[in-house]
Amino acid sequence: MSQDEPNDFATALHSHARDVEALLRELLSSRPRHGEIARPERLLAAMRHGVLGGGKRLRPFLVIESAALFDADREAARRVAAALECVHCYSLIHDDLPAMDDDDVRRGRPTVHKAFDEATAILAGDSLLTLAFDIIADPAPDSDAGRLPVDRRLELVTALARAAGAGGMAGGQLLDLEAARSRPDEAGIITLQAMKTGALIRFACEAGAMVAGAARPDRERLAEFGSAVGLAFQLADDLLDRTAHAAAMGKATGKDRAAGKATLVDLHGAEWTRRQLSGLVGQAHDLLSPYGGRGSMLRSAAAFVAQRRS
Ligand code: IPE
Ligand code: IPE
Ligand code: MG
Ligand code: MG
Ligand code: MG
Repeated sequence: MSQDEPNDFATALHSHARDVEALLRELLSSRPRHGEIARPERLLAAMRHGVLGGGKRLRPFLVIESAALFDADREAARRVAAALECVHCYSLIHDDLPAMDDDDVRRGRPTVHKAFDEATAILAGDSLLTLAFDIIADPAPDSDAGRLPVDRRLELVTALARAAGAGGMAGGQLLDLEAARSRPDEAGIITLQAMKTGALIRFACEAGAMVAGAARPDRERLAEFGSAVGLAFQLADDLLDRTAHAAAMGKATGKDRAAGKATLVDLHGAEWTRRQLSGLVGQAHDLLSPYGGRGSMLRSAAAFVAQRRS
């Protein structure tokens, strides 16, 4: 990475986050969308708490930058980025529930079920998941900007459903909850991680190419890039769970070991994990080589994921 890249990356991450948050704020306003009956204020407040209070916004960044690689419509990419962030935030709200990881702090603030109550947190998660599909399927009737052809919207809906559902994130969460008992081997842990974390990150990268209507080989290449980044992301998360302080992370640490959950860090140690991380970043960079300088933001994103401190 060149000397000035990290700064460019930090600026772009911040600026995309601001753009996507502005749209999320609009989408989570108290005004019902066309066809909705009413928006209960307590539910909307819980959804805003889960979505708008911080977060690195890495997945939206990946959507927007992979879309930019193929000169996609920026507004359409922003909408898909916002939809994906809704799914991600729903997954965190439910992940923190007492029935799952039972966490009190997320992004340095009380988790949604702590700030509200469990039933409201469950419903806020449900509502964010359905809102995500609303955002993508909606033809955006107010303006031409961001309007995608129907076939692309359907493709995105299908891909997001598969990334988020039983064969993706939700299925991975089940395997993760079982991990303390089932003690998966290395291959099992890799599958679990590819599902619980990798699937949404893979979708983020492929979605940019889909928004652009890019050719299949490009889409597949971006999906593969997303898989490498996704695996690196969860490895870094597991490493940080072992080594970082809760204050820096904005969430509890040391939980995986306490729960008896096998991670690759447990199996192989921190040194091996760091070597693995740099191997994955190398793989991710190689996948971007056909795009030359245009891939520099995505290259920085892969490096950021492996080196992150929070
Ligand atoms: C945390 O994701 C959950 C995992 C998949 C490990 P992030 O670290 O992206 O969380 P935020 O959105 O930045 O808070
Ligand atoms: C959560 O993994 C992954 C999803 C929410 C899908 P973790 O349970 O490791 O995430 P953190 O550490 O609570 O953020
Ligand atoms: Mg969990
Ligand atoms: Mg958790
Ligand atoms: Mg974790």
